[in-house]
Amino acid sequence: MTKPPLEAIPSFVAALGDYEPLARERMTEGAWAYISGGAGDEWTLRENIAAFARLPLRQRVLRDLSGATTRVSLLGMDLTAPILLAPVAFQKLAHPDGELATVIAAGALDTAMVASTQASTPIEDIAAHARAPLWFQLYIQPDRDFTVDLVRRAEAAGYRALVVTVDAPVNGLRNREQRAGFALPDGVSAVNLHGMRMLPPPSPEMLLFGAPLLENAPAWADIEWLRGLTRLPILLKGITDPEDARRAIAAGMDGIIVSNHGGRSLDGLPATIELLPGIVEAVAAAVPVLLDGGIRRGSDILRALAFGASAVLIGRPYVYGLAAAGAPGVAHVIRILRAELELAMALSGFRDIASIDRSALAAQGRGITP
Ligand SMILES: Cc1cc2nc3c(=O)[nH]c(=O)nc-3n(C[C@H](O)[C@H](O)[C@H](O)COP(=O)(O)O)c2cc1C
Repeated sequence: MTKPPLEAIPSFVAALGDYEPLARERMTEGAWAYISGGAGDEWTLRENIAAFARLPLRQRVLRDLSGATTRVSLLGMDLTAPILLAPVAFQKLAHPDGELATVIAAGALDTAMVASTQASTPIEDIAAHARAPLWFQLYIQPDRDFTVDLVRRAEAAGYRALVVTVDAPVNGLRNREQRAGFALPDGVSAVNLHGMRMLPPPSPEMLLFGAPLLENAPAWADIEWLRGLTRLPILLKGITDPEDARRAIAAGMDGIIVSNHGGRSLDGLPATIELLPGIVEAVAAAVPVLLDGGIRRGSDILRALAFGASAVLIGRPYVYGLAAAGAPGVAHVIRILRAELELAMALSGFRDIASIDRSALAAQGRGITP
C-alpha cells in the first residue's frame, strides 16, 4: 500500500535528500523504479552526485556581502535564482495533481519551469497556471507535421523558449523499470501526443537497427529545420561533447544544456559537472551553458557556476517533493535550494552570481579537465 501525500511538511525535512524516502513511500514500486532509476548499471546516475563531492570548495572571509543577490538574466528573462525545474515526464505518476502542482509551486517561488513533451497534463493547462517563465521541452517526433503543431501550440500558449532534447532518440537501457515491471497506469499518458500518427511497430525479428523509430530519429538537419520554424530561443539539451556544442552554435542555437538525462540515457557517460568545463571552453561565451544532473545542494550550484554554467536545472528532487506533499513540497524543495545557494555564496564570499568563478573551488578541484 502506498501512503497518501502529506498534508503538512514534517519539521524534520531539512534538505532535499529528506524528501526521497517520503516520496518512495507514496509511489508504487513501478513508478519509483521509473522516476528514481537510471540506465544500465546506474553508474552515471551515481557519478552525477559523487562527482560534486570530489570538488572541494574554498572559503574567503571578510568580503563585502551587502546588497547580495542571486538574481540573473537568462535569454532576456529575469530569474530570482539560477535554478530551473527540468522537464520531467508523467508527473501524475508522482501525485494526482502532477504538472499543475509543479507549475503552481514554481510560480509561487518565481522559478522557471520546463514542461515536458511527455507531460501528463495538456501544455495549455500548465501555461494557464504559470506565474513565472515557462519553457517547452520538445522531442522532435517522427511525425514532423505533428512536431510543427507542438511548436505552434507552445508559442500560442506563451512558452518563452524551446528546449530540444537530443540525447534520447530511443530510451536508454532501463533495467530497473524492466525488473519492476513498470507500465503507465490508467489515467497517466502523454496527453500532448494524442492524435499523432504512430510508426508501424517493429517487426519481431528486429532489435533496434533498422527499426522505424531509429530510421526517423532527428539529425542535425532537423535542428536547422526547427531553427527556421520558430523565433523562440532554442536550447539543445543533452549535449556532452564540445564538438556537438560548437555544432549547436553553428546551427543558431541560443543555449546549451549539459545533461546526461539524469543518468537515464547512455550509462557510462561521465558526470555532467566533469563534462561542463570542456563545453564551456568550446562555447567560449557565445551562448549560455546550463547544467543538470545530480544537483542536490546549493553548494552544487556554486560548483556548477564556478565552472561557467549560467544556471542549473533540477529533476528528481522536485518530483520527490511533489510525490511527498504536492505543490507545497515542490515549493519547499525550491526554497531549500535557494536558501542553501545563498548560504554557500555568503560563506565563500560571493555576493552575486556574475562574480562566481573558479576561485570558488579549492585548488585541487580546479584542475579538472574533461
Ligand atoms: C522521471 C524522469 C523523467 C524525465 N523526463 C524527461 C523528459 O520528458 N524530457 C527531458 O528532456 N528530460 C527528462 N528527464 C531528464 C531531466 O530533465 C533531467 O535531465 C534530469 O532529471 C536531471 O538529473 P537529476 O534528476 O539528477 O536532477 C527526466 C528525468 C526523470 C528523472
